[in-house]
Amino acid sequence: MPTQGRPETIAFIGAGNMANAIIGGLIGSGYSPSRIRAADPSPRAREALKALNVQQVFEDPCAAVTDADMVVLAVKPQVMAAALEGVKDCLPPQCLVMSIAAGISAASLDRLLGSRQCPIVRCMPNTPSLVYRGASGLFANPYVSQQQRQYAEATMASVGTTLWLEQEDKLDAVTAVSGSGPAYFFAFMEAMIDSGERLGLSREVATELTLQTALGAAHLAAEQPVSIDTLRRNVTSPGGTTERALQAFEREQLGATVDAAMQACFDRAQAMATEFD
Ligand SMILES: NC(=O)c1ccc[n+]([C@@H]2O[C@H](COP(=O)([O-])OP(=O)(O)OC[C@H]3O[C@@H](n4cnc5c(N)ncnc54)[C@H](OP(=O)(O)O)[C@@H]3O)[C@@H](O)[C@H]2O)c1
Repeated sequence: MPTQGRPETIAFIGAGNMANAIIGGLIGSGYSPSRIRAADPSPRAREALKALNVQQVFEDPCAAVTDADMVVLAVKPQVMAAALEGVKDCLPPQCLVMSIAAGISAASLDRLLGSRQCPIVRCMPNTPSLVYRGASGLFANPYVSQQQRQYAEATMASVGTTLWLEQEDKLDAVTAVSGSGPAYFFAFMEAMIDSGERLGLSREVATELTLQTALGAAHLAAEQPVSIDTLRRNVTSPGGTTERALQAFEREQLGATVDAAMQACFDRAQAMATEFD
């Protein structure tokens, strides 16, 4: 995990789920809470951060960003314009801005910050970041320096793996794969649990077996030096039980279903950007 090269001070605008995950990861990997500032209108969110030993938590966003090297925008897309209105006049010059909001382009963010050619990194994380097993896609606009790229990468590496994209529109594909991806696996697991119950297992047993199987399969795929299709073929004996299950997937067009779902997700990500503009 490249924890070196993290900024001296990081300010978070919005202290909800994702901000808490990133802050938890930063602190858990040795970043001092005294280097973190945050602003959130919700007293409950501010109290929650104090429980993580982050003391510099404010209602006023300007109080959080004044001496920051990097500002993380961790608010919902629908309040982004209002949040940026509150910080644009107090943002330090050349401070790196990293947005984790879906569907708001770097150009739109710069415009909302007063068209100052602000160094902006857009990041698409996912919810496993909450347990430090996230996957984040990152895109930097041309004003981001090499050191600032490192700031963004080292920060997100605190909660999982990171991957740079050279074209901003690739973030919509990242949204379709890893941003929304955890929900696909949850839906598949729910279906397996329902089916296990129909086949006579208790819900508890079906849930435990499904979760452990998902975890085990993911570990196997990540750790074995063979392709995923080889792993699939290895458990598929001719004429056996797994083969029958996979034939049913094929008959019911699992591949086409997944493709349609991911295309719909991608289209929505693109439409959100247009709606925001
Ligand atoms: N959760 C995910 O899986 C995920 C994955 C990828 C990307 N993201 C992105 O991450 C961002 C944050 O998501 P989240 O799940 O962490 O949301 P969240 O839990 O709702 O947190 C957002 C926080 O921002 C606060 N807030 C509202 N207006 C503000 C303002 N003007 N200034 C400062 N703070 C303000 C909210 O307070 P109130 O509750 O009082 O409004 C809330 O505490 C979103 O843009 C989302 O698209 C999330």
